[in-house]
Amino acid sequence: MNDGPPLSFSAISAALRTSRMGRQMELLATCPSTNDRAAELARQGAPEGTLVVADAQTGGRGRLGRTWHSPAGANLYLSLLLRPTRPPADVPPLTLLAGAALAGAVAALGGEPRLKWPNDVLLRGPEGWRKTAGILTEMASERDRVRHVVVGIGVNVNLTALPAELSDRATSLRLALGRTIARDALLAELLNLFEPLYDAFDRDGPAVAVRAWRPYAAFGLRCRIDAGDRPAFEAVLRDVDDVGNLIVEDDSGTRTRVLAGDVTVVGTTNPDRP
Ligand code: BTN
Repeated sequence: MNDGPPLSFSAISAALRTSRMGRQMELLATCPSTNDRAAELARQGAPEGTLVVADAQTGGRGRLGRTWHSPAGANLYLSLLLRPTRPPADVPPLTLLAGAALAGAVAALGGEPRLKWPNDVLLRGPEGWRKTAGILTEMASERDRVRHVVVGIGVNVNLTALPAELSDRATSLRLALGRTIARDALLAELLNLFEPLYDAFDRDGPAVAVRAWRPYAAFGLRCRIDAGDRPAFEAVLRDVDDVGNLIVEDDSGTRTRVLAGDVTVVGTTNPDRP
């Protein structure tokens, strides 16, 4: 569905209050994947903060090899190039950091987002909590040095026609908030919130990301946990530790730390209010 105004380079630039994030920008009508384009620019030496935005993607990618539905005219597909000075092991919590910035931008629109570990932004619709955005963080590194990081963000903004396979778990800002959202302003606000958080992260490390993420966390939500190292199980999301690992509690009251994996909402439980 394409019924919003086109993305505008000048509208995005005018709303930016950043010094680096988005100051170099490539705005494309379409591309295979903004993450791939940002990585290409990184290899050519593009500076930190370089932004790639596309109105549509032909090969949008999600976590765990999934595709990201990327039609034209409705949504945000963007990738931000970062060159953190932290070691590679500190990079995964950048997903939490980006989630916190995005949740802040959605909250500024009047939404009540919840963040589902590690990379999903949820909004409540008539039928429960649904995903409205996802984050795909990709890194190129040597053993102890990060060459670059690409943080890719996809937001269902004004999408109203969800494909059948997504209709029971996805939503859009427009469906949840009941009005059309200006994509330029949302993108600029996301970057405005991200930059100071990122600077603090680069200085002080993953605890900054955890602190920013926690107020929006979907704790209390019942989920299916597939961490790959044991059979999938159902548990309630309880906390994150200082480096961003998830802590869940199963029905016997046992708490488990989840370092990586897939977390799917089960049922319609409401997450705790922060
Ligand atoms: C997920 O929830 O699995 C992550 C989705 C990330 C999608 C975005 S859209 C912009 C960027 N380019 C991609 O190919 N993927 C990310």
